[in-house]
Amino acid sequence: MTKKRRTLNTAVIGLGMGRGHLSDYAANPRAHPVAVCDIDTSRLKAMAEQHSIPQERCYTDYRKLLAGAKGLDLHAVSVALPNTLHAPVTIAALKAGLHVLCEKPMAMNAAQARRMLAAARKARRTLMINFSFRFQPASMALKRFVDDGRIGQVYYGRTVWHRRRGLPGFGGWFGTKALSGGGPIIDLGVHRMDLAMWLMGSPRPVTVTASTYNVIGARLAKEQRKTFDVEDLGAALVRFDNGATLILEASWAGFSEKREDMVTQLWGTKGGVIQRNVGEGYEFEARAYTEEAGALWERKLQQPVGRTPSACGEFVDAVLTGRRPIAPGEHGLDVQLILDAIYKSAATGREVRIART
Ligand SMILES: NC(=O)c1ccc[n+]([C@@H]2O[C@H](COP(=O)([O-])OP(=O)(O)OC[C@H]3O[C@@H](n4cnc5c(N)ncnc54)[C@H](O)[C@@H]3O)[C@@H](O)[C@H]2O)c1
Repeated sequence: MTKKRRTLNTAVIGLGMGRGHLSDYAANPRAHPVAVCDIDTSRLKAMAEQHSIPQERCYTDYRKLLAGAKGLDLHAVSVALPNTLHAPVTIAALKAGLHVLCEKPMAMNAAQARRMLAAARKARRTLMINFSFRFQPASMALKRFVDDGRIGQVYYGRTVWHRRRGLPGFGGWFGTKALSGGGPIIDLGVHRMDLAMWLMGSPRPVTVTASTYNVIGARLAKEQRKTFDVEDLGAALVRFDNGATLILEASWAGFSEKREDMVTQLWGTKGGVIQRNVGEGYEFEARAYTEEAGALWERKLQQPVGRTPSACGEFVDAVLTGRRPIAPGEHGLDVQLILDAIYKSAATGREVRIART
């Protein structure tokens, strides 16, 4: 067990999305960002200056950072690297005795995710996945509503993230399968799949039928003579062991109505809920539909429902108090098993059965 601490000394590896982690730790009185790492020296310098991290605590090689963990009195790291690096860097950090907050998707595939979980168990360290959509007030409010039994047993759901045009720049890691593991299904779908499954109470996935397409991305990448070997749209039907069914749709490009469309809707035996973006932006609302006194009701859940934590705040609190975080590595593996099955089903044109974990 980790000895009781009041403050968690953290480092952030990867300073794209990782810049948000760094700001979050810096704003948290119970966290102290002590080091940063990125191969991009201009990003490294800018972040170090912004957060007053001395030059000797700036690393371009994560191995050197991890090797010096004791000297830095480092307790935890955020891994916010391209997907292909999540597993090797997370495992190395766990082996160095550090707690890890790893960005989504947990890994490139379930085999890697399993190795990450095994490393966390062996090292007896916390492994949390940044399923950031869980931490929005609208999601938290719905989680409480569903957990209170207000919609009964969920038997059907639809969870979606479509972008009319949201293709990443061609030639980078996002559109290269060997570096990303896939396109919008693993990048955007992972969030909406996780949110739906978390609200549903984490039922066990049993079978997946899916299709993926690369229509607009392939055409535009060809015109630019760049690599884009992942899907630009994917859809799946997932069946769970409790009889529930969930539809997932995700795209980076397509002729969809909204430019940015995020929806997670669940149908239960006593009611339903929806979490979606307002208009085409990044503000979210939560609504619930119930039957009371013989009439059908619709209510908008008011925000916020008290203070909701950020993912980094949740990670810090879970490590310092020695409790399981809201988004543990085990949930990352559950989603990863579905992602693997989606790509396999799309490639084979068949339904894929998910083996018991
Ligand atoms: N939770 C969310 O909402 C959310 C949002 C965006 C991205 N992400 C995830 O965060 C991860 C990073 O995505 P991004 O958008 O920041 O990508 P990015 O390409 O903008 O940033 C990645 C950073 O990692 C650095 N890097 C690459 N290889 C490295 C290495 N070997 N050692 C050290 N640094 C290295 C790059 O220089 C870059 O600064 C991805 O897994 C992505 O899915 C999550």
